[in-house]
Amino acid sequence: MAILPAIADGEDKSSPLANRIRKNYRHLRKWAKRTNTDCFRIYGRDIKAFPVAIDFYAGRFCVQYFSSHSQEEETPAKYKDEIIKALTSVFGAKEDVIFWRTRARHKETRQYEKLDESKEFFSVFEYGVKFLVNLSDYLDTGLFLDHRETRKMVASIAKDKRVLNLFAYTCSFSVHAAIAGASFTKSVDMSNTYCAWGRDNFNLNSLPEKNNPIAREDCLKFLDNEIRSKTKYDIIVIDPPTISRSKKMDELFDIQIDYLTLIEKALRLLSKGGVIFFSTNSRKFLFNTTYFKNCTIEDISSKTIPLDFHDPKIHRCWKISAI
Ligand SMILES: C[S@@+](CC[C@H](N)C(=O)[O-])C[C@H]1O[C@@H](n2cnc3c(N)ncnc32)[C@H](O)[C@@H]1O
Repeated sequence: MAILPAIADGEDKSSPLANRIRKNYRHLRKWAKRTNTDCFRIYGRDIKAFPVAIDFYAGRFCVQYFSSHSQEEETPAKYKDEIIKALTSVFGAKEDVIFWRTRARHKETRQYEKLDESKEFFSVFEYGVKFLVNLSDYLDTGLFLDHRETRKMVASIAKDKRVLNLFAYTCSFSVHAAIAGASFTKSVDMSNTYCAWGRDNFNLNSLPEKNNPIAREDCLKFLDNEIRSKTKYDIIVIDPPTISRSKKMDELFDIQIDYLTLIEKALRLLSKGGVIFFSTNSRKFLFNTTYFKNCTIEDISSKTIPLDFHDPKIHRCWKISAI
């Protein structure tokens, strides 16, 4: 069952940061209990004086500091002390369950390099589905919380469907689809580490490998091969990085350039009545919807922003339906 501790401090009103976290958590905890979810955002830059996001993962905390300097590496001590005090006050949290990240605000490229080697994985619940999370070793935790509703949306139509998950990361979309009764899922990601993590997520939920293969491949090359083999899918999820440079790829991936090819090729894999969910975190991204024929395109961004995320631009998402 979801780990959702009771508020520890009663009503200690001395810190504005603690007050806000307590208020947010009190509200979210009711929803979290009802939905068997124990990973969500408890603070998202709500107060200007504290430019951080704090995510709750089953009793542990991931604090992201948004720095305006690309060289800054540590959360400044003035914020750190207040955050520790607030989390201790509201949750009785000890420092060893608080994990720190710094993100440079104006950097659109995400780095996927290793931060540590602790290999400390633990499981969390999202709508009753289990996922492995690691708050020490990588910049990202294994689960992008802002796509919780998108995963639910995909799961809600996945029963008896064939699902393709491109840029699958730890396979969270495909695991939700498989739990919801998808007849087959295929997840594609270029990284060995994330493919292995995805496999562990399927295993954790007792989902058979046979119906849920994972391919370690460049998605653009994968699409060419899949088109040649005439395979079809009912649902395709495309949630690529903004920019990706890798030794495993021949060329730089840039969402603003490559989305045209990606969607065009994905449309060729789509069965009659099939849908593509296409999403990006890029704030500068421009979608030329007139480019694509034989489909309808709906901007579903507002329907996919979860209740714990207050930034409507955290991601954008489109539903592309074949006609
Ligand atoms: C933004 S994450 C995707 C998030 C994921 N869709 C989710 O919902 O959790 C980007 C992922 O794309 C993978 N990736 C980047 N370029 C790729 C490529 N050309 N082909 C396949 N995977 C790629 C990375 O390894 C990383 O796991």
